[in-house]
Amino acid sequence: MSKLLRKQILEQGDIPNHIAIIMDGNGRWASSKNLPRISGHQEGINSVREIVQICGELEISHLTLYTFSSENWNRPKVEIKAIMKLLLRTINKEINNLNKNNVRLSIIGDLNDLPKDPQQAMIEGINKTKNNTGLNLILALSYGSRQELIMAFKRIANKVEKGKMKSEDISQEIITRELYTCDTPDPDLLIRTGGEHRISNFLLWQSAYTELYMTDSFWPDFREDQLLNAIIDYQNRQRRFGQTSEQVSE
Ligand code: FPP
Repeated sequence: MSKLLRKQILEQGDIPNHIAIIMDGNGRWASSKNLPRISGHQEGINSVREIVQICGELEISHLTLYTFSSENWNRPKVEIKAIMKLLLRTINKEINNLNKNNVRLSIIGDLNDLPKDPQQAMIEGINKTKNNTGLNLILALSYGSRQELIMAFKRIANKVEKGKMKSEDISQEIITRELYTCDTPDPDLLIRTGGEHRISNFLLWQSAYTELYMTDSFWPDFREDQLLNAIIDYQNRQRRFGQTSEQVSE
């Protein structure tokens, strides 16, 4: 099945440059199997590994994973602790493999919010892989899009206050430049697993013209075939960016 889907994708050719994923449904995957919620997160790591590998093989340039939102800090303390431990263990275990596969790791979000150990491991992982030229793997950690926009607006207001910029010069480009994602193209495809149909404070500015793909699959069940089907669905869309269908097909 996967081979056929891959062939179809490569023949069609219009592969998304940047895929962003809201990895939802770990808890419900675990509950459906009478397992503790953390087992869902643990199994979710296997999906992360598989999806990262396939994105690399398909030569997708950017993959952003919504790993821990600013709002996730409101979860029960014991779950937060378990996720942070899992994050630390995963980075330590996977970083050499990521490096070997030419993956460049980076983070969006407020890394300072994380406990010291995972924070340090992330910084080391980013440094170790910073010269790699393959897939850009971006983990959104303690990330909230509204918080990111506030940070950007404050920086811009500060420049205006200091006379370094005029308020009438504020443009889409200026705002884009002040975001965590300043070096990253906007996502072409945003996937949400777990059956919910919402964006949940993820890349609000950046996904103005992103194609959305929602699936009922829980994240631990989202593997190669599911990703390939999402890409095929994307390839069958017509991206109009506000223009008419006729204009786009000219
Ligand atoms: C959402 O499922 C999942 C999370 C908040 C955590 C996701 C984190 C991982 C899979 C670990 C990723 C690690 C790396 C290194 C990328 P949920 O708990 O909201 O599920 P539910 O909606 O069914 O309760």
